Amino acid sequence: MNPMAFVNRLPNPARFARRLDARRSEAVGDVLAQHRVLVAEARDAFEALLVGDGDARDEARVDATARVLLDALREVGDANDVTVNAARWVDRALRSERLELLDRASVPASVKRFTMQMLHAVNLILDSYGVWAGALDTALAEVADAHVYDLAAGTGGFMRHVARRSRPGKTWRLTSTDLEPEYVAIGERRARREGLAITFEPCDVLDLRHTAGVSLFVCTQATHHLSPGQVVRMIASAVRRAPRGILIVDLQRSLFNVFATAAVLGTMMQPLLHDGVLSVQRSYAPAELVLLAKLAGADVVTTSMPSATYTVMHAMGRA
Ligand SMILES: C[S@@+](CC[C@H](N)C(=O)[O-])C[C@H]1O[C@@H](n2cnc3c(N)ncnc32)[C@H](O)[C@@H]1O
Repeated sequence: MNPMAFVNRLPNPARFARRLDARRSEAVGDVLAQHRVLVAEARDAFEALLVGDGDARDEARVDATARVLLDALREVGDANDVTVNAARWVDRALRSERLELLDRASVPASVKRFTMQMLHAVNLILDSYGVWAGALDTALAEVADAHVYDLAAGTGGFMRHVARRSRPGKTWRLTSTDLEPEYVAIGERRARREGLAITFEPCDVLDLRHTAGVSLFVCTQATHHLSPGQVVRMIASAVRRAPRGILIVDLQRSLFNVFATAAVLGTMMQPLLHDGVLSVQRSYAPAELVLLAKLAGADVVTTSMPSATYTVMHAMGRA
């Protein structure tokens, strides 16, 4: 393994932040119950959007509700625990919704293409694909035949990594998708050169109506590019369409991760530095993902933090 990969496997030092997140996870049910009326209206709105009947007002309603609930959850701390309250203060200072270069219309396509290329290189150097593959194995532990559908997959590096690994006794069909047809085409060319059996197609995470026979949707390092309402719609659609639901892997929002990302990217991949640090700041904390998944109607939601770098959330419709 590349020596740099140890960064992705460091034990999580964000003890106080984890304690704060645990408090917030416990409060998710109360937050949903306290906003019963808003939740019911948002659910009507995204049901309409999921079947193609919704409009911009429905999109705005889902997003506004998700933001109200997130704000309520972010108020949760612990008056008697100074470390939890300090973690809350740090988290508030850290959080950002500033747009990454990748999401700005004014940034030329060539710069975005280069950034995506760098991201793939970082994923390889840090063995991020290996960490996510472990989470995928866990999510599909009891499933022999599966169709894995990667959303917002960029140039498809993760599915190419999965396709190269041997899985005795398992037959997985793999599909890699992204909103940008150019990234999809690059991924398809690379997979063809290696003779890997992966289907590539353009797909908007907000419209999964064309998908059929998917066992598990996957979304890595992309949830923080979506607004809260968009995250809810993606999860709502995924848990209705796939028996194993959706596996989300994203960066952990922590001070440690800001410094680690700045140190790694600043020394190796300067052009990615801006988006890398902002990605950490934009990321949803585990308790926030649980809240959004529950709002989306997921019944079974589990989260883990396999290292200091990533949050993993697995949401399913039914037990
Ligand atoms: C930071 S990249 C992550 C790529 C890859 N999943 C990875 O982990 O390296 C974010 C990706 O999300 C894609 N994206 C953003 N909004 C999307 C949407 N609504 N539907 C599908 N893909 C989207 C972008 O085109 C970009 O490729």
